[in-house]
Amino acid sequence: MSRAPVDLTAQDSLDVLRGVLGPIVAQGPIVRRPSMTARAERRQSDRRSAVVLDALRERCDGAPLVLRLGPRRLVILTEPDDVARVLDGSPEPFTPASREKVAALRQFQPDGVIVSSAAERRRRRPLNERTLASGQTVHPAGESVVEQVARIAAEITGTVRMSGLLDADMFAAAHWRLVRTVTLGEAAHNDERLTARLNALRRAGNWSYLRPVRRRLRAAFAEQVREHVERAEPGTLAAAGREAAAALAAQEPDAEGLFDVASQVPHWLFAFDAAGIATLRALAVVAARPRVSERVLDELASAGHGATVLPYARACVLESVRLWPTTLVVLRDSTEPTSWDGRTLPAGTGFAVVSSYSHRDRSRHDLGDRFVPEAWLDGRADADRALVPFSAGPAACAGRDVVLLTASHLLARIAGLGLDVDRGEHLAHDPLPRTVDHHGLRFRLGARADRSLGTAV
Ligand code: HEM
Repeated sequence: MSRAPVDLTAQDSLDVLRGVLGPIVAQGPIVRRPSMTARAERRQSDRRSAVVLDALRERCDGAPLVLRLGPRRLVILTEPDDVARVLDGSPEPFTPASREKVAALRQFQPDGVIVSSAAERRRRRPLNERTLASGQTVHPAGESVVEQVARIAAEITGTVRMSGLLDADMFAAAHWRLVRTVTLGEAAHNDERLTARLNALRRAGNWSYLRPVRRRLRAAFAEQVREHVERAEPGTLAAAGREAAAALAAQEPDAEGLFDVASQVPHWLFAFDAAGIATLRALAVVAARPRVSERVLDELASAGHGATVLPYARACVLESVRLWPTTLVVLRDSTEPTSWDGRTLPAGTGFAVVSSYSHRDRSRHDLGDRFVPEAWLDGRADADRALVPFSAGPAACAGRDVVLLTASHLLARIAGLGLDVDRGEHLAHDPLPRTVDHHGLRFRLGARADRSLGTAV
């Protein structure tokens, strides 16, 4: 049942700022700051955040919680129906182009769909959906995508067999090669400067409107992306984007120049980073749990070659982003006054879903702190409107399916190494830690058999 939004007292607001929003901002909403994610894990900051929100939710009987931030109001939603109302109401009256997001993302994707006006979104959203084949478990370019995954998995497994070690930095470097190739093609495979530029712009984006736009760097990055998009070979997302743009422009000749793929690519590159983080955390749990690992490997072994769907490995990745969401907070701004159970909030009010809190809410199901990939296979997770690792509604993640295809295949192939994860005792059993710093994950070749699937295509 919906309830009128409740204004937080000064003390409650301070608790939310310190215990909930502060750690999110400190970790870096656009690119993580390793020293801060390490600190967040040491302090288990998501546990502290849940304590604050649990208390307020109980006291306010689940009503939306209104926080004053100077002239601006931010409403924190804790009930699934309220989350669903706002996400289903995107892009109007609840736009994803919230003030903070626009200010942060303009550093590298000023024309991305997520920060677009409703009018621009009418062209950009279909371009993204068509390119990324939203809603299709296997992307039309799936064979090439999985071939690239197998190639990178082989590189990783080859290196790990020699060094005996896999750490987050090595994984990230390999994952970026994969992302650049899948998105932009072979010429981008080793283009580390592209990633370095993107990450420098993301670091500026962490400061939202406190940091002026790095225009020269942004222009150089955009130019580099555009060159790659023009030369990208078939089988890449950029080539799929060129085709999608041409098809959409043919349907709407007056709008031809508005279907611009290169302006959407920065979001894809940026968002693939989250896929790497989710895969690494899933790998940590798989490595710590022999039964999960067996099932992942059996599934891959019986799946056959190529771009097959790996439902269980997919579910492990989904469980990773449920337990440790990579979008720390999903934000919307109202585009008109919002009437909410007898109270009216002005246009421009911010609405926030704190994913790490909503995803572990035990009041609705018993998933909580447990690792239950089965919940993504039997409909339990889908039935919960507050489980939103890829957001929900008309502005939900357009890349969900291509991410899950890529990440599930990578996970399954690296799992074949039979790695042991350091500090695995924390991941081997439920309850799982609330906060896991992916930068700190380290794996070693263990005594378990290497099932040598790393090189399977
Ligand atoms: C684990 C990986 C990923 C996760 C967890 C994820 C999650 C999300 C979430 C939560 C949003 C909504 C954000 C908001 O409303 O503020 C979003 C938006 C979006 N994502 Fe992803 N994403 C991932 C990877 C990707 C990738 C790799 C792509 C593209 C290749 C992609 C494409 C998009 C697009 C285009 C949007 C904007 C949708 C719109 O505003 O209409 N995502 N994603």
